[in-house]
Amino acid sequence: MKRNCDCLSRWSFADVILSVAALFLAVGSAGLSTPGLLAQEANYDEDKVPAYTLPDPLIDNAGKPVTTADQWTRHRRAEILALFEEHVFGRQPEFPVQLRTRLRSEVDDAAGGVAHRRELTVYFTEDDDGPQMDLLIYTPKNATGKVPAFLTLNFQGNHTLEADPRLRITPAWVRNNGDFGISENRSTEASRGGTASRWPVARIVEAGYGLVTIYYGEIDPDFDDGFRNGVNALSAESDGERAGNAGGSISNWAWGLSRALDVLQDDAQIDAERVAVFGHSRLGKTSLWAGAADPRFAMVISNNSGCGGAALSRRAFGETVARINRSFPHWFCINHRQYGGNESELPVDHHMLIALCAPRPVYVASAEEDRWADPRGEFLGLYHAGPVYRLLGRTPLESAEFPEVNQPLQSDVAYHIRTGRHDVTDFDWEQYLRFADRHLRR
Ligand code: GCU
Repeated sequence: MKRNCDCLSRWSFADVILSVAALFLAVGSAGLSTPGLLAQEANYDEDKVPAYTLPDPLIDNAGKPVTTADQWTRHRRAEILALFEEHVFGRQPEFPVQLRTRLRSEVDDAAGGVAHRRELTVYFTEDDDGPQMDLLIYTPKNATGKVPAFLTLNFQGNHTLEADPRLRITPAWVRNNGDFGISENRSTEASRGGTASRWPVARIVEAGYGLVTIYYGEIDPDFDDGFRNGVNALSAESDGERAGNAGGSISNWAWGLSRALDVLQDDAQIDAERVAVFGHSRLGKTSLWAGAADPRFAMVISNNSGCGGAALSRRAFGETVARINRSFPHWFCINHRQYGGNESELPVDHHMLIALCAPRPVYVASAEEDRWADPRGEFLGLYHAGPVYRLLGRTPLESAEFPEVNQPLQSDVAYHIRTGRHDVTDFDWEQYLRFADRHLRR
């Protein structure tokens, strides 16, 4: 059986080397004793979470309280968005793009015969060989009108959703992965259908939803090359000095999701006003940022997103700001690096990222064994967005008490922690469908 291995970078080779090097440096240069060395490791002890005070989303930059929905919408929301651009993700690209599309395939017998399926290439420039992304679009075969949909990036290529030889194999860079038989960063026939366990396509379309997915590496390949590849090539910023608030890969991926939503505006089968943006792990960080920055997304779902996603940075539990920027220097903006080990100076925390999505429904999900992503921190991120939801007339999580496993809480926002590891499972999808039924049905 194939494993879904986007999490391989959880302890990537580079990470191991860096950690070992850091350990040697600590011993050699400072002559640190064991406690000093241990400080380099991730904290998994709730008692050792530092005392922290969260910035209040309802106190503006000038220290004035925000007391009306109107003040939030017209003033405070924009302030917080700008703070995330400046200190966390960086600005989303402002490339001048002229989107063009080409329908590559259309079949009526996908996902075991229940889905209509299209492959649509979206070109970002006039050049057919320039930056582009493929949308894989599933809709219910017997739909009578436009359907609501989940829009999501995937980790290994659109052809990994189903073992169907008719699907186009991504020509883009992919991470080498022995489980998929991938070497030299090129996808192979062996990888077809390899991530199917994460995508219950038939279940989704039979529930009346569309599913639209894009291989994230077509927007921006997920490795540090000094911000040159993927859509970075369209930016003037890839040459010369890089601004501290220029967006990293998460901003680029989020930008790609918004461009997909642009394309869906004219789609005959998907209702662009009822699109939930969904993502897992680094792509769950991305779905939150996409939903925060682009209010056209009607719902936001963030699965096991952890540090830089739903989890509160100030808890420094599991993965930390220092660690994530060291392992993945291309994900965030350069300004974000100064907050490693210095989280209390961040003018925001990630409850405010979720608050940016209000009043739209947000689902945050955790997995019990995924301690690296700090499930309690993910829960608290959602909980502390509550005052903004309440101000906007919505019902957030009522209690700060951490729920039992497999006991979803759903109101105008939703949370669950399920048993098991860092992954996307049928259990997760069942909850997302239920939440979508509640908020995206007409
Ligand atoms: C690593 C990384 C996480 C990320 C995860 C993933 O574990 O440290 O921040 O969420 O990869 O995207 O799979």
